[in-house]
Amino acid sequence: MPRHVAIIMDGNGRWAKKNGVSRLAGHNQGMLAMKEIIKKADMMGIKYLTVYAFSTENWKRSQEEVGGIFNLLVKFVGSELAELDENNVKVHILGEYREKVPGAAVASIDRALETTADNDGLQFNIALNYGSRAEITRAVKRICHLTESGVIKSEEVTEEMIAMALYTGNDNGNIPDPDLIIRTSGEERLSNFLLWQAAYSEFAFTDTLWPDFTPEEFESIIEEFSTRGRRFGGRI
Ligand code: FPP
Repeated sequence: MPRHVAIIMDGNGRWAKKNGVSRLAGHNQGMLAMKEIIKKADMMGIKYLTVYAFSTENWKRSQEEVGGIFNLLVKFVGSELAELDENNVKVHILGEYREKVPGAAVASIDRALETTADNDGLQFNIALNYGSRAEITRAVKRICHLTESGVIKSEEVTEEMIAMALYTGNDNGNIPDPDLIIRTSGEERLSNFLLWQAAYSEFAFTDTLWPDFTPEEFESIIEEFSTRGRRFGGRI
């Protein structure tokens, strides 16, 4: 069983086109799929689930679509927070969500973080205004501050320090690297997602468009993952 599964929820737009509805209706359907996967991951005993909800590059989309995605986040928190809390799910955000993100969405996020802060079940990480290069740049700056102020010497910088300075580090409870990264919709790339953390991750790609992704498919991907031999660069 993987401890940490990360998902690139891709294909909402294509699903919308295929079904003759607006892109926002596609994202809404994507949110519904996401809700089911959170429940399934929790039931399966997965400890960390991370979803790529909004990238630093997604700001290039129309204002209407961007605003619509954040409205969905508000809607998601409004309708799901009580149940997530009841199920002992702990919500975290990976990314600079206080920058650029509309106020109503920031308020919803803060509410979700505060409400679930003491929970110790599934940790649900939402990557929001997330970009891996921005994350690594931020980590480098943090470490430069330490060396400039004489707390450590540059020769003393370690991989662990870099990992701790990422969004997945100290700020969010030191999340282990993802064991498995799933991408839907037939695309096979990382798109600036968890570049550092994915060093030894397994990948699973499916042609299914995200809104059509079901808990059953999730489970079968996890089952297939559990048959893989992982050597982390060593020998068996
Ligand atoms: C990628 O599909 C999906 C996104 C950029 C947004 C993901 C958002 C959700 C699943 C909505 C709910 C999530 C939260 C946390 C509220 P795409 O639009 O790039 O699809 P395409 O490549 O087919 O156009």
